Amino acid sequence: MFEVYVHVPFCLRRCGYCDFNTYTAVDLGGGASRGNYAAMAIREMRLVRDWQERHGIAEPPASTVFFGGGTPTILPADDLIAILNAIRELWGVEDGAEITTEANPDTVNAATIRALADGGFTRVSFGMQSAVPHVLRTLDRTHTPANVEAGVLAAEAAGLRSSVDLIYGAPGENLDDWRTSVRAAIDLGVNHVSAYALTVEPTTKMGRQIAAGVLPKPDDDDEAAKYEIADELFSAAGLQWYEISNWARPGSESRHNLGYWRNVDWAGIGPGAHSHYATFTPGGEEDAVPHSLRAWDIAHPRLWGERINAGQVPWADSETITPEESLEEAIMLGLRLRKGLDLTVLDHARMPSDRLSAGIAELERDGLVGFRESRVVPTLRGRLLNDTVIERMFALFDL
Ligand SMILES: C[S@@+](CC[C@H](N)C(=O)[O-])C[C@H]1O[C@@H](n2cnc3c(N)ncnc32)[C@H](O)[C@@H]1O
Ligand code: SF4
Repeated sequence: MFEVYVHVPFCLRRCGYCDFNTYTAVDLGGGASRGNYAAMAIREMRLVRDWQERHGIAEPPASTVFFGGGTPTILPADDLIAILNAIRELWGVEDGAEITTEANPDTVNAATIRALADGGFTRVSFGMQSAVPHVLRTLDRTHTPANVEAGVLAAEAAGLRSSVDLIYGAPGENLDDWRTSVRAAIDLGVNHVSAYALTVEPTTKMGRQIAAGVLPKPDDDDEAAKYEIADELFSAAGLQWYEISNWARPGSESRHNLGYWRNVDWAGIGPGAHSHYATFTPGGEEDAVPHSLRAWDIAHPRLWGERINAGQVPWADSETITPEESLEEAIMLGLRLRKGLDLTVLDHARMPSDRLSAGIAELERDGLVGFRESRVVPTLRGRLLNDTVIERMFALFDL
């Protein structure tokens, strides 16, 4: 399977909590611009396609395409469609593929959404974050709850599926505020929701305010209570969890994200984007051993563009994924999924199965996982204490 991720590193304004690789017009500086982004991204794709060919990698048509950011919808719809058309031309896109763009609710209107639908997009993921005005203010958001509703209605009218992102645990958000946001997301009638615990990044404005004591630190118990509220209300509304931070109506899960969790190949295009090739054989070396490869693009749009202008794939670096890292990733990812961790695909040579069985039985006794048909599946408690479950599983594999 093959997926394409396109990172669009621009935002109108940086939200105080966010440390994503994104730039406002002010921090962009000279030599990089939103205006030529689509052309540069298309040039990068050609370079990547050549690189794949030189290494004997023949990808099937993309099964999913995801435009993330930053704020992809800061670009004109025509630019996003031009990039999508270039993907069609270079790799092909499967019939019925899932083609998503993230959108800040205040950067889209009915006309942009209609244009995206006509251009082949199938899904929009809106950064809703909260439905409560004081929480939106603390998060430095520029949109209003009405913007989100208008966006979702426009998507529905254009035949697109919608998802919304929520954040819980913002300073000053109480349990009722959070219930209001969860209910508002449900009332929008979307078929997919992501809800993330606020991560406090030390280098952000919010990180500095929390470090200085101007804003209170998020509290683990408060966040756990909010996770339970989300899970209860979403489930009652027919949105079932399928990954720790994601809920969907059955059949509306994000196929793109599931692909990441299933270790497929993906090409990451755009500043800072990561690529992954499950089986890569270094070229020109007779005794080359196939391995998994991870590569990531140069983060700053100007330096990224310079490398492309020099005719080179704009990777900052790449690394081999060792069997041990692959095992760690498989365990971490599997324990985030409703489907659970499939023990039959793990490296059993590393440990006798009776020790594994005993360790899993202990996790079951502690109410952290269930075990069925060779799969270790996290319980609600196991989702809340995901780090502990992963740590204990790593220990079982001597990782
Ligand atoms: C690229 S943004 C989505 C599109 C658009 N940029 C927007 O914010 O509306 C991806 C999502 O990451 C989440 N996010 C970003 N920084 C976060 C943080 N520090 N803690 C938790 N979630 C975060 C937000 O929910 C956000 O919607
Ligand atoms: S949360 Fe979205 S809009 Fe806000 S700075 Fe991050 S990427 Fe930009």
